[in-house]
Amino acid sequence: MIPVSQVIVGDEEQRGVLEVLRSGHLAQGEKVAQLEDAFATAHSAAHAIAVSNGTVALTAALRVLGIGPGDEVITTAFSFNATLNAILETGATARFADVGEDFTVDPDAMAALVNRRTAALLPVHLYGLPADMVAITALASRHALAIVEDAAQAHGARCEGRSVGTFGIGAFSLYGTKNITCGEGGIVTTDDDDLARTLRILRNQGMRARYDYEMSGYNWRLTDLQAAVAIPQVNRLKEITAARNANAARLTAALIGTPGLLLPMVPAGRSHVWHQYTVCVLPDAEINREEFCARLTRVGIGHGIYYPKLMHDYPCYKANPRVVPDPTPRARRLTAQVVSLPVHPGLDPVALDQVVDAVKEAIRG
Ligand SMILES: Cc1ncc(COP(=O)(O)O)c(C=O)c1O
Repeated sequence: MIPVSQVIVGDEEQRGVLEVLRSGHLAQGEKVAQLEDAFATAHSAAHAIAVSNGTVALTAALRVLGIGPGDEVITTAFSFNATLNAILETGATARFADVGEDFTVDPDAMAALVNRRTAALLPVHLYGLPADMVAITALASRHALAIVEDAAQAHGARCEGRSVGTFGIGAFSLYGTKNITCGEGGIVTTDDDDLARTLRILRNQGMRARYDYEMSGYNWRLTDLQAAVAIPQVNRLKEITAARNANAARLTAALIGTPGLLLPMVPAGRSHVWHQYTVCVLPDAEINREEFCARLTRVGIGHGIYYPKLMHDYPCYKANPRVVPDPTPRARRLTAQVVSLPVHPGLDPVALDQVVDAVKEAIRG
């Protein structure tokens, strides 16, 4: 079985965890501070604030901007539901723009939804590919809108040379399948000193210092145990990304021109970090996506469908007036076509060739 994702941790992570265990201080402390420094440096951000998970990172980013009831946040329809849940958590209303050919949100579609209630744009750097942040930043500044970047899947990705998470406030995830992981965890990035200070207070019950409350807050803290696992991976981020890039390049070189398959594209000026390598099984393929996936399963090739529905298509959101079911036909089509293939750094050339052979075989009628 070749898994679609794999956790790769080594001696350094083990040593770090043991050090924390032996120190007797397991909660947020020195290791979290080290993680924040390393993460901020890796993304050329002035501040990185560690929190308990990526969903909290998104919620915190929206909260610190003062987004709440009456505000609209424009995002993509094609993402993991944490993106939507975080917007709803603040009391704001979610609007959905369609995506482009690259799977990320289309800035023109976002522009068409801007109105006097719009408070923020929330692009998702899906599968590790930055959204078109040049156009999105221009749109935000035309209308004085905030930007929150869902960078849960895009550690170290860049748009025109600039790291994701620095165009607005960035929200990253350190969940078990992500390019950097400590099981559960999140990071908020910002260049704004005041926002960073407020985020640190918000995550710690609203305290400036012990029992000195400035506002009502939360327990959004990460632990030193988790930070010890994440730090070595942040330090290895360039290597991790290079390995994912090399694997993606090998898949593309071998699969290009395969009838019935559309391969992922990388628009000029953007660097992909290949959290997922996602192909589309096209309508003119000789078999449908479900059969394609069943064939991959039979020969032990892990894969995933991210995502089988639009975020707002689930019944639990249908009656919610803060979830506006804007039409997004391209995103809807993609939910029926996408399949993500293994691309993680644990794959050697032999395993990648097995993936390629299985895909070529499976797509045949
Ligand atoms: C696009 C996207 N946004 C948000 C999240 C939420 O992150 P977490 O699972 O760490 O809460 C995830 C990951 O799970 C994600 O893939």
